[in-house]
Amino acid sequence: MFETTHLHITTWVLGLVLFFVAYSLHKKGNEKASKISHMILRVFYILIIITGAALFFIHSSIDAALYGVKFILGILVIGFMEMVLVRSKKGKSVQVMWILLIIALLATLYLGFRLPVGFNFLA
Ligand code: HEM
Repeated sequence: MFETTHLHITTWVLGLVLFFVAYSLHKKGNEKASKISHMILRVFYILIIITGAALFFIHSSIDAALYGVKFILGILVIGFMEMVLVRSKKGKSVQVMWILLIIALLATLYLGFRLPVGFNFLA
């Protein structure tokens, strides 16, 4: 169950969907629904980390350095998603956080799909 990447992919895809739902609901002024989706998203952060860490502990001996970078990038994506949501709710500027989120997300997807387990069509 934890050796393949299916569960991990499911959790981060749902996490990204929840992130966009929470953000757009906030933009539309629907604070209550945005708050609920943000809370569910936080549960998904934990699921993403658990499934990612399981893959890391099972497979990182293949290439400890690159798996370490994947681990850190994955955590950064979660951090920047949280920063975008929290800062936008406080009315602070989120432009820089969006840029960092997009860069971290692209790098994470690229490295994830390059690494040997699961899909590796970029290798
Ligand atoms: C939203 C955040 C994240 C995204 C978008 C993401 C994305 C991906 C992608 C695209 C893959 C490749 C799947 C495949 O090839 O079948 C992957 C695999 C992996 N992820 Fe993540 N991930 C995230 C968070 C994390 C976190 C937090 C960790 C560590 C705690 C982690 C650790 C791993 C590991 C070890 C693999 C296996 C690499 C391999 O294919 O050999 N990921 N992830």
